[in-house]
Amino acid sequence: QELKMNLEQIEKGGYEHFMLKEIYEQPNVIKDTYRGRLSSTTGIIKMAGIEDNIEKFLQADRILIVACGTSWHAGLVAEYIIEEFTRIPVEVEYASEFRYRNPIVNQKDVVIAISQSGETADTLAAIKLAKEKGAFVFGVCNVVGSSISRETHAGAYTHAGPEIGVASTKAFTTQITVLTLIALRLAKAKGTLSKSDFFRYLNELELIPDKVQEALQTNDEVEKIAKIIKDTNNSLYLGRGYNFPVALEGALKLKEISYIHAEGYPAAEMKHGPIALIDEHMPVIVIAPKQGHYDKVVSNIQEIKSRSGKIIAVVTKGDTQVKALADHVIEIPETSDALSPLLTTIPLQLLSYHIAVLRGCNVDQPRNLAKSVTVE
Ligand code: G6P
Repeated sequence: QELKMNLEQIEKGGYEHFMLKEIYEQPNVIKDTYRGRLSSTTGIIKMAGIEDNIEKFLQADRILIVACGTSWHAGLVAEYIIEEFTRIPVEVEYASEFRYRNPIVNQKDVVIAISQSGETADTLAAIKLAKEKGAFVFGVCNVVGSSISRETHAGAYTHAGPEIGVASTKAFTTQITVLTLIALRLAKAKGTLSKSDFFRYLNELELIPDKVQEALQTNDEVEKIAKIIKDTNNSLYLGRGYNFPVALEGALKLKEISYIHAEGYPAAEMKHGPIALIDEHMPVIVIAPKQGHYDKVVSNIQEIKSRSGKIIAVVTKGDTQVKALADHVIEIPETSDALSPLLTTIPLQLLSYHIAVLRGCNVDQPRNLAKSVTVE
C-alpha cells in the first residue's frame, strides 16, 4: 500500500493531482504534437496519414466529425477552423446520435473520429457504420494502438502522453493542435488561405506553447476567483465564434469535477433563455478575447451587468473595455482568432480545478464518471 502511494506520488511529479499536472504539461505536449510535423520557415506540414490520403480530403464533399465528451468539443472548434481555412463544409456529431439515426453518409465523405482513449464504444460504433457506408475514416487519437486507431483507415496521433485525470485537459488542446495542422495542410493544397495568412498561422502556432505557459501564470488569480464563487450552485459560461465550444468545455469541466451545475452557451443565444436565470447570485464566465466578435461580446456583458450578474471574464492582456464592466478579469496573451481556444481554455481548466479542490471533491476520479466509456 505504502509503495503504491509513493509510486503515485512520483507519477504526479510533485503536483497534488494528475489533473493539475496535466494542465501544466500543456506547453510541452502541444509542442510535442506539432514537433517534426511543421516547419514555419518552409511552410511544410507533414503528417503521413494526411499525405497518403490527401486526395480523399481534397475531393470530399464534406467532413463529418464524430466524437463524445471533451473530444466532441474539440471537434466543434475544428469545425470553425476547418471551414474557415479550407472552405470544406464540416458537420460535428455526437457519436452516440450518429450511430442510431441512419445518417446520410457516402463514399465522398471523410469522417474524422476524435478520441483520447481510442476506446469509446459509441465512437467506435460510429466509425464502423461510416465504413460500412463507404466513407473514408480518419482517427485523431491519443492512445497509440487503441481500438479506434486500428479501426480507422488512417490517422494522426496527438502526442499528449498518458492522461490519467478523468477530466480531459491536455488531450483537448492537443486534439485542437492536430486538427489545426490538418486544416492548414488542406488549406495549402486548396489555396484557400493567402500565403501571408498561412505563414502567420504557422508562426502563431509555434508561439502557442510559450503563450500557454503565460496563461498558466493566471493560476493565483484564478484561485482567488475560485474562492469567491466556490459555493455557487449554478453558473453560466458564454463565448462566441471559436470560443463558443470553449464555453461548452469550460462548463463541462466544472460539472465533471465540482458537481456545480454549469451551462455553456453561445453568448448571443443567452437572450433566448438563460438570461432569465441571471441575478446577483449567478456567476457568468465570459470568454472575451480582443479579436473576433469582441464588441458583440462586450454588449452581452453589459446585458449581464444590468441584471446584476457576477461577471468573470477571460480577456486579452491590456484589455480595458471588459475590465471596466467585469467583477474579475483573467488576462491571457494575444493570438489570432482561430488559435485563441488553445489559450482561453487554460484558465477555465484551472478554475474548475481550484473550485473542485476547495469543495473537497475527488478531482482525478469524480463520482459516476469513467476515463473511457467502453460500454453504451
Ligand atoms: C469520458 C471521459 C471524458 C471524455 C469522453 C470521450 O466521458 O470522462 O473526459 O472526453 O469520455 O472520451 P474519448 O477517449 O473518446 O476522447
